[in-house]
Amino acid sequence: MSNRTFTMIKPDAVANGHIGGILNMINAAGFRIVAMKMTQLSSAKAGEFYAVHKERPFYGELVEFMSSGHIVAAILEKDNAVEDFRKLIGATNPANAEEGTIRKKYAESIGRNAVHGSDSNENAAIEGDFFFSGLEKF
Ligand code: PPS
Repeated sequence: MSNRTFTMIKPDAVANGHIGGILNMINAAGFRIVAMKMTQLSSAKAGEFYAVHKERPFYGELVEFMSSGHIVAAILEKDNAVEDFRKLIGATNPANAEEGTIRKKYAESIGRNAVHGSDSNENAAIEGDFFFSGLEKF
């Protein structure tokens, strides 16, 4: 499904009260919210979600952070969704994120970087299915 992507508002942004601000930026950029929920990942579930990064030095820190508080998971729809959403969120490290991006505005550091965005159409579908059943996607 090439017109959909998956996002999470991460525990730092939720704890700092930025859900509304981030959703406003997502809406203003022309994305339609197809599905959305607030939840908290167990460390086992966060480990599974980020299993592709298992060998990377920051994996333990990433899993601990992503299971440390509430997140908001959502599926978003727009033409060219994956690429356009990666542009909207900005670079992984907020020090390199451009003006006008979500991470420039809300991220604290490379680890606590406010939002996740899928990096391919294939992963967008896998990640969306990780959180939402067919009945929850409109
Ligand atoms: S990406 O999105 O794949 O291009 O970025 P990448 O640099 O490969 O990072 C993958 C995810 O790991 C997080 N990350 C980190 N967490 C903690 N500490 C450090 N140093 C660090 N570096 C990267 C990064 O935020 C990515 O998370 P997601 O949820 O995919 O954005």
